[in-house]
Amino acid sequence: MVKICCIGAGYVGGPTMAVIALKCPDIEVAVVDISVPRINAWNSDQLPIYEPGLEDVVKQCRGKNLFFSTDVEKHVCEADIVFVSVNTPTKTRGLGAGKAADLTYWESAARMIADVSKSDKIVVEKSTVPVKTAEAIEKILTHNSKGINFQILSNPEFLAEGTAIEDLFKPDRVLIGGRETPEGQKAIKTLKDVYAHWVPEENIITTNLWSAELSKLAANAFLAQRISSVNAMSALCEATGANVTEVSYAVGKDTRIGSKFLNPSVGFGGSCFQKDILNLVYICECNGLPEVAEYWRQVIKINDYQKSRFVNRIVASMFNTVSNKKIAVLGFAFKKDTGDTRETPAIDVCKGLLGDKARLSIYDPQVTEDQIQRDLSMNKFDWDHPLHLQPMSPSTVKQVSVVWDAYAATKDAHGVCILTEWNEFKTLDFQKIYDNMQKPAFIFDGRNVVDAEKLREIGFIVYSIGKPLDAWLKDMPAVA
Ligand code: NAD
Ligand code: UDX
Repeated sequence: MVKICCIGAGYVGGPTMAVIALKCPDIEVAVVDISVPRINAWNSDQLPIYEPGLEDVVKQCRGKNLFFSTDVEKHVCEADIVFVSVNTPTKTRGLGAGKAADLTYWESAARMIADVSKSDKIVVEKSTVPVKTAEAIEKILTHNSKGINFQILSNPEFLAEGTAIEDLFKPDRVLIGGRETPEGQKAIKTLKDVYAHWVPEENIITTNLWSAELSKLAANAFLAQRISSVNAMSALCEATGANVTEVSYAVGKDTRIGSKFLNPSVGFGGSCFQKDILNLVYICECNGLPEVAEYWRQVIKINDYQKSRFVNRIVASMFNTVSNKKIAVLGFAFKKDTGDTRETPAIDVCKGLLGDKARLSIYDPQVTEDQIQRDLSMNKFDWDHPLHLQPMSPSTVKQVSVVWDAYAATKDAHGVCILTEWNEFKTLDFQKIYDNMQKPAFIFDGRNVVDAEKLREIGFIVYSIGKPLDAWLKDMPAVA
């Protein structure tokens, strides 16, 4: 029986390995992590992450050929294939701070693999890493390997949160990069055989190591760039009276462009896009390509502009101040169907409103009060450094209350901002909400989920991203 061990039981390691275990009953899969609470949660009825369909997959395999453990060394030692799916956050200090990927977690995993291994292994980069990381990993492994043969493969993950299980069941493609030597090609074949249990062969792409590593950064950069492009258009739509939904539909009908991933928003969030583009920017700079670096940096700049533009619109509409006004925030996760708040645009929007002394009442169906308070009291880029954070307990931001119902959040509020596109926000009783709010009652829809015309009939002043402005909003122009 082939044995797989995955280091890192996070948003990628957990679901990916659960699906491998489900689709490959002949393979034993162990997912290991240094975080005891995380592993305990994987072994309980309350999984550490919310992901549609995940619980069902885990329940089918856990205890049969899927195991979650903190005994990292034992499982690495026994494995034939070791996936490394640890976090690769943006560096917060030192050389490249604010841009480069922090490979501390990766390096310590690689050193541990070298230390405990007693047999040949295939080591798979599952984390998103800078191009050429495999070379560094090879050096660590071969300098400490006691004659053991390690083959490094790059097998980046393309799942999106909220649809992880669907994406893993039917991936657009699986990408495997390896050395062009006979040993490298043999390792590629071994990993390909794992995926071939359920992925059609034509969807498994094999490349050299550097192409695989760079393709992951490129894919995320292209995706994020589409959102920044449509968000840039949304600002122009508001200025001209065009409707961004109509523009993006018309543009996306061109089969060369395609209709997916063209939804305007208050900005993209999530643990990947910003981190991976900053990483790309840094790699370009290090390779003497400042123009290319600047091109990609603009994607982040537009995203930051979109968030601050949204905050400015709120403040400007409400007589240029939100000081001591109650603002209801509906949705805090970075997208629907996840409880993940990493780099969610809600953090920057809430901080912007708090900067103008608003009182916030926040409701999200999947995010806890603890998490929201932690996010709002943390410095930029600190969020994905769990080892730095462990000793810190979240300090409370006093102007923020977190409630468990959209009606409680909006009661007596001066304005409502919708920051995540949860389906339940579409079917709220807005007449009831209006009746319980201060007047004039404002709704700022950062995801274009509500029917603005219907809300205007009730009496709301409504701002929808990229849509023609109300007379009220036109009279109160926001300066970004
Ligand atoms: P995560 O923070 O949810 O999980 C990483 C886990 O690794 C944590 O539980 C941490 O405790 C553990 N860990 C760190 N160092 C360790 C060590 N030395 N030994 C054992 N465990 C260790 O991160 P994630 O969202 O799963 O992302 C992991 C990687 O996958 C990142 O590089 C990310 O860019 C990439 N990725 C993420 C997504 C996504 O949607 N989240 C999608 C594709 C790729
Ligand atoms: C992304 C990539 O899609 C995935 O392939 C990669 O493996 C990890 O990063 P994820 O961040 O989980 O996945 O979610 P995604 O669906 O890409 O959304 C990212 C952000 O963009 C969210 O905040 C989302 O709301 C926003 N978004 C997405 C838009 O604003 N408009 C869109 O049209 C699509």
